[in-house]
Amino acid sequence: MHAVVFERYGGPEVLEYTDVPDPEPADGQVLVDVEAVGINYRDVYERGGPGYGSDPPAIIGVEGAGTVVDTGERVAWVAIPGSYAERIAAPRDKLVPVPEGVSSEVAAAALLQGMTAHYLAHDSYPIQEDDWVLVHAAAGGVGLLLTQMARLRSGRVIATTSSDEKAALASDAGAHHVIGYDDFAARVHEITGGEGVAAVYDGVGKATLLEGLDALAPTGRMILYGAASGRPDPLDLSVLSAKGSLYVQRPTLATYARSPELLRDRATALFELIAIGALNVRIGATYPLDQARQAHEDLTGRKTTGKLLLEP
Ligand SMILES: NC(=O)c1ccc[n+]([C@@H]2O[C@H](COP(=O)([O-])OP(=O)(O)OC[C@H]3O[C@@H](n4cnc5c(N)ncnc54)[C@H](OP(=O)(O)O)[C@@H]3O)[C@@H](O)[C@H]2O)c1
Repeated sequence: MHAVVFERYGGPEVLEYTDVPDPEPADGQVLVDVEAVGINYRDVYERGGPGYGSDPPAIIGVEGAGTVVDTGERVAWVAIPGSYAERIAAPRDKLVPVPEGVSSEVAAAALLQGMTAHYLAHDSYPIQEDDWVLVHAAAGGVGLLLTQMARLRSGRVIATTSSDEKAALASDAGAHHVIGYDDFAARVHEITGGEGVAAVYDGVGKATLLEGLDALAPTGRMILYGAASGRPDPLDLSVLSAKGSLYVQRPTLATYARSPELLRDRATALFELIAIGALNVRIGATYPLDQARQAHEDLTGRKTTGKLLLEP
């Protein structure tokens, strides 16, 4: 079968579309035909260096949707290594059923980023009616879903984006105000009448974390859930008292979906929102599997919006 392998750590150039042996399911695993692969920023960290996913040489990626070869069941997953491939051997308890009416493309586009947006808005900081929150990179995969999720909880969203096209998408997703990254904390205080936001949702990291603390209301929550601009420097905790008794969380979906039950419950809640039309899943681009390198270049070059998929 064909798959995308990274032979060593590095930039997009280490991704090789190549022939590999078909996977052979072990006990508790099933063979799945992959119909859509989800690209996530974690894939950039995985090929970039140790500590985030598989060690090279390995097939990259963890998300997708497809069909169980033996039973014809339609399934999706967010945490199965080796997902940039035509087939995977999947542990049964890491698969979630895809309901009728949700295509494999939408399932692969929604599951990882949608469950992330769901736990961020419901658990990391449970957004209350009329709360102001700040969503960075709001036209991205997580960002568009999180903006909509915050609106579903009746929050008020201030969004950051880096271009007019992205600003329009964030606005369409429900952001009340869309701003650029320059002096964003000062802009947040203008918009909120000096109060600041109840929570900052930050997947950008190094470039935004410290200024984000200044955008928070007293006792506000900094939810640092990613590092698209690089890992932030270590934080001196005394800063949190000086800036208003703040909280910081560094969450990961792996915690919030750590058991098969938690994974299924959140996937079910997400698919219900999609099925009733409450959540719009934007597939920004679909690339053939052999174009994974280009997809990574576009993602890290900030050229993309919404979700990126690979088609095996
Ligand atoms: N903790 C979790 O459970 C979890 C789960 C899923 C994803 N994440 C994190 O969520 C974040 C978003 O992931 P995603 O897959 O949805 O990606 P994405 O938001 O679609 O793409 C990243 C976006 O970040 C913004 N950005 C700002 N500075 C950047 C820089 N220096 N380089 C590249 N991009 C930059 C860009 O938007 P602008 O051009 O508008 O700034 C870019 O489009 C990532 O940090 C990812 O690790 C975390």
